[in-house]
Amino acid sequence: MRCPVPLHTYPEPEHGQEESGPQASGITSHVIDVGKLFLIIAFYLIVAGKDVYDIISERYDKRTKRSTLIVDAERFKTYDEVFDRQNLDNIFHLMKRGKIRTVECPISTGKEANVYKTNKVGGGFSAMKVFRTSTATFGSFLEYIDGDRRFQNIDRSRRGIIYTWARKEHLNLRTMFEKGVRVPEPEAIFRNVLVMEYIGYEGKPAPQLKFLDAEKEEWEEMWEIVVETVRKLFVECELVHADLSEYNILYDGAPVFIDVGQSVHIGHPNAKELLRRDLGVISTFFRKKGIEGAGDDAEILIKELASSVEDR
Ligand SMILES: Nc1ncnc2c1ncn2[C@@H]1O[C@H](COP(=O)(O)OP(=O)(O)O)[C@@H](O)[C@H]1O
Ligand SMILES: [Mg+2]
Repeated sequence: MRCPVPLHTYPEPEHGQEESGPQASGITSHVIDVGKLFLIIAFYLIVAGKDVYDIISERYDKRTKRSTLIVDAERFKTYDEVFDRQNLDNIFHLMKRGKIRTVECPISTGKEANVYKTNKVGGGFSAMKVFRTSTATFGSFLEYIDGDRRFQNIDRSRRGIIYTWARKEHLNLRTMFEKGVRVPEPEAIFRNVLVMEYIGYEGKPAPQLKFLDAEKEEWEEMWEIVVETVRKLFVECELVHADLSEYNILYDGAPVFIDVGQSVHIGHPNAKELLRRDLGVISTFFRKKGIEGAGDDAEILIKELASSVEDR
């Protein structure tokens, strides 16, 4: 998704800026007039190309040795109450670590998190998921954290739970990626901000299975891959996705599982129930796509995996 209004904001030098020393940082926003805006857009189109679409970027002033985060406050107001000062600081931290260069528009704005396309330092894109720290539904997070032996004695404050949730998605991605499951490769985590491989083609995000047009044979092929992926997640990663649906699988030439924050270890007391739910939801979707045996395949897999865990 491209930002509809290529508006950039620039920081005014702040009073005392020169005295602020090397690498001092600041977050500034300032709406400029239309004439100046036109000149800046022209400049950016010629010199910096796609940067004109960025809504967060960093500018380093060699003379003052000062880095400034450039934020389009107007656009944030429209899109995004998620960007409070704390989140901007977190993003700035990731920029300074070289994990992202600039932030573009949101790909998705959800109840618990927003996902942004970001530009990498060396070129190419990443996806940045920012979990809302003020989310009203964070209470349900604990159902997927408590009982997962990987997360014990966590900070149970609102922020602590959300940071743990983000860390959990990062760890789940890392485990899955290292075992060869097709998921976005995790790139960085800082507090409630997760950076991962961007799944897309020519700058456009890959579609969710829900919105994919495909032939019957292609759905058949995808169903086989989905079944194999669920099996691999369970047997090799010892994980259950726990929110599997046609919305949490992208299509990038093959199915890519995403949104794994809630994924639990198979030792979790509800793991079997969650596995049953996952396979129920996804087989119903594939049945609607004409894969008549999807329900039976799911039943067989549930039995196979459930008995494998009892044998351990
Ligand atoms: N790594 C990624 N690359 C491209 N798009 C992504 C990526 N991760 C998420 N998205 C997009 O953002 C949407 C929401 O992400 P998701 O992780 O499912 O969060 P939510 O908790 O809001 O459902 C996805 O459906 C997908 O369209
Ligand atoms: Mg999702």
